[in-house]
Amino acid sequence: MPHRFLVPTLLSIILSSFVFISQCSPPEQQSQQQEQQSSVQQTPTPELAEYMSTMSYYTHKFALAVDAQNQELAQFYFHEIRAIADEIKKDIPGYEGYDIARLMELFLDPTIQPVEDALADRNWETTRKVAIDFIGSCNTCHNASGHGFVNVTPGFDNNPYNQDFSVEE
Ligand code: HEC
Repeated sequence: MPHRFLVPTLLSIILSSFVFISQCSPPEQQSQQQEQQSSVQQTPTPELAEYMSTMSYYTHKFALAVDAQNQELAQFYFHEIRAIADEIKKDIPGYEGYDIARLMELFLDPTIQPVEDALADRNWETTRKVAIDFIGSCNTCHNASGHGFVNVTPGFDNNPYNQDFSVEE
């Protein structure tokens, strides 16, 4: 190889090996990070307040959809509420010495079917009444589990969301 080619060739070998090394190490670090993250995710400690917060959020949206007499939307939110209630029973059967699953069954569960029936019938007057009963049962359970100071209201007529709850024309 002529001398004038040798230096650039050596340089390019050194350079490309640098590029190779620097490309190699980040994925290694990434996979280490992923390992650390997944070991954290393997031992989740579900926080009851977070489930409750989400349930409360959907409950208010549900009430606003009832207010707007929007069956499809109200059913959608009520379905979400039910799903979270089921998750709580499964994931957090006990909390601070309270049998949460049992209390949910005792207070919340009996108020669910009347809401579904009234909604299915588009009987808005009844839906409103049983929705109030349903939300009342949230507070009954708060009282029974040492959290009576968390007082949930339906929040009808009180839309803080960037969302129009009315039926599509
Ligand atoms: C087991 C009975 C029980 C039922 C039924 C229940 N809750 Fe709760 N709720 C609790 C307990 C216990 C806490 C306190 C959780 C904590 O200390 O982390 C709580 C906390 C909350 C909070 C405080 C968290 C926050 O984000 O402000 C809200 C809001 C709430 N619940 C809303 C509701 C709504 C809405 C319903 C009904 C759809 C409901 N809860 C049904 C037991 C219940």
